[in-house]
Amino acid sequence: MNPVLNRRNLLWGGASLAGAALTARLTDTSVRFMNSALAQVAAPSGPIRMSSNENPYGPSKVAIEAMQAAFSQSNLYGGIGNQILELQASIEKVSPESITISAGSGELLQAAGILASLDKGSIVAPYPTFGQLLRAAEDMGSEIINVPVDENMHIDLEAMYAAIRPDTKMVYLCNPNNPIPSIIEKKALEDFVRTVAKDRLVFIDEAYYEYVDNPDFSSMMPLIAEGVNNVIVARTASKIHGFAGLRVGFGFAHPELIERLNLVKTGSISILAQHAALVAYQDKEFQDFARARNKEGLAIVEGMFDELGLRYVKSNANFVFFETGIDNEAFRASMREHNILVGRLFQPYPTWARVSIAKREEMAYFVQTYKSLYT
Ligand SMILES: Cc1ncc(COP(=O)(O)O)c(C=O)c1O
Repeated sequence: MNPVLNRRNLLWGGASLAGAALTARLTDTSVRFMNSALAQVAAPSGPIRMSSNENPYGPSKVAIEAMQAAFSQSNLYGGIGNQILELQASIEKVSPESITISAGSGELLQAAGILASLDKGSIVAPYPTFGQLLRAAEDMGSEIINVPVDENMHIDLEAMYAAIRPDTKMVYLCNPNNPIPSIIEKKALEDFVRTVAKDRLVFIDEAYYEYVDNPDFSSMMPLIAEGVNNVIVARTASKIHGFAGLRVGFGFAHPELIERLNLVKTGSISILAQHAALVAYQDKEFQDFARARNKEGLAIVEGMFDELGLRYVKSNANFVFFETGIDNEAFRASMREHNILVGRLFQPYPTWARVSIAKREEMAYFVQTYKSLYT
């Protein structure tokens, strides 16, 4: 582990975000809940999923009702793709031609990885990061240039820029990143994207975008609205909307690039998922609810990190990444014995763990279990 990495600079998480934001997160209500809940959390009847960054509350009631109403159309081809494109266009202030719908953002990630590899070369990516696009590209013959995160575990844009070679076809960025839930400072990111996209593709994976509460963050969607070419922004309904099993994602790019992506994509989303997506993206109440609950869950678990002096990266998403000091496999096994499923090993951090935010009583149970085992 890099010696510069200490608890203090990790706490600063996303670029210049101050510790004050963490304090703000510990609202009276969540602290009260934490104190009362921690005293008496019962063991769960089945495994608690804290392993895949899912939303424990979704899909919303309105999304489920929309699917129930759409059952009777399940025998029909076609659907309401155009309505979904129009809705996304109005939410994101881009043209419908700048959007493609995918079977989860995973399909788009894979399509983009394949597209960037049709003409063999390299792809520059942070390390560690989310691997789906990179695996697809590697399978197609691209070389992946992994650029380690910096000493604060932030994506190192300067090092990424320096790693670009003449044969680099794409730069992949994940913002917030995964498994490290840090963000890239918005101005530095925009400058980077504008410069790099002059000559090659830049893919920005914004799967956790809706959870970010950090003034240093900005989506790169305005570049799509502006018509900047060679930039792809990916979004998913899997996270804040709780659609992981429904498979709805979106790609945003210049219309010519969308056409190229559509040539490579092969999936489509079911009529049920389409109807669910149409209402979910208009259901602000559920999104606010999921965001607020996630914040409370983060406060509970990050509160424990502070209390125990554990090193962690302040989260901008629906998961945390922290140093247990225990071999990841052993940590996962002991958590499993207590009906808690946590994230797998992420190199190069064999003694760190990724834990997804579940319901707040489940987070309280996680804290209770962790403390009983390791303090
Ligand atoms: C950063 C990131 N991008 C994309 C995905 C893919 O999600 P989905 O295919 O469900 O949209 C995930 C899933 O966890 C993720 O963490």
